Amino acid sequence: TIGNSSNIVWHNCSVSKIDRQELLNQKGCVIWITGLSGSGKSTLACALSRSLHGRGKLSYILDGDNCRHGLNRDLSFKAEDRAENIRRIGEVAKLFADAGIISIASLISPFRRDRDACRALLPDGDFIEVYMDVPVQVCETRDPKGLYKLARAGKIKGFTGVDDPYEPPLNAEIVLQQSEEMCNSPTVLAEIVVSFLERKGNL
Ligand code: PPS
Repeated sequence: TIGNSSNIVWHNCSVSKIDRQELLNQKGCVIWITGLSGSGKSTLACALSRSLHGRGKLSYILDGDNCRHGLNRDLSFKAEDRAENIRRIGEVAKLFADAGIISIASLISPFRRDRDACRALLPDGDFIEVYMDVPVQVCETRDPKGLYKLARAGKIKGFTGVDDPYEPPLNAEIVLQQSEEMCNSPTVLAEIVVSFLERKGNL
């Protein structure tokens, strides 16, 4: 029995992941961008996708906020729904990687256990965790959507970093710290990820 279904059988096709990767001249993988709201996840995802596109490499962004408009529209922000949000995006990201695509998941994904479960779905080395290491004070100063202000005023309950937990990764492949002194333009950060992919032989 798999989940709630019984009598289901895996079906293989003669067109393999390797065939698809050959067609695309790249290796599929999952870039998992985690961090607080306002830490720059979506901006990095977009800059990364733009840079890969410029190199003729196919990527696709699975953004938490965007997926909540469709695939995950039934989910709230309580812990079990966040876990389900992460699980679904993890499974979809895995399918994209299997298609040979560089799938870029960008969602808060506050719980270590849920992120690790997504990592475990993929072969070793195919899950690249990118931690946007930006302190909550910095995110709150940016407050691009005005949500921290609402959370501080008690108008949003259970807001990550305010009155809901965020567990930073312990072993992220890439940690991006952003401070005003450092060169923190999205393009520069995206190039760090691109170089990583190049060294790993994905591009
Ligand atoms: S999660 O925790 O991974 O399921 O979250 P995610 O799917 O990435 O969605 C986060 C975006 O939803 C908005 N939002 C909230 N964030 C955190 N906590 C609460 N309670 C909340 N309510 C709404 C917020 O705009 C997040 O956007 P980002 O892109 O992260 O800034």
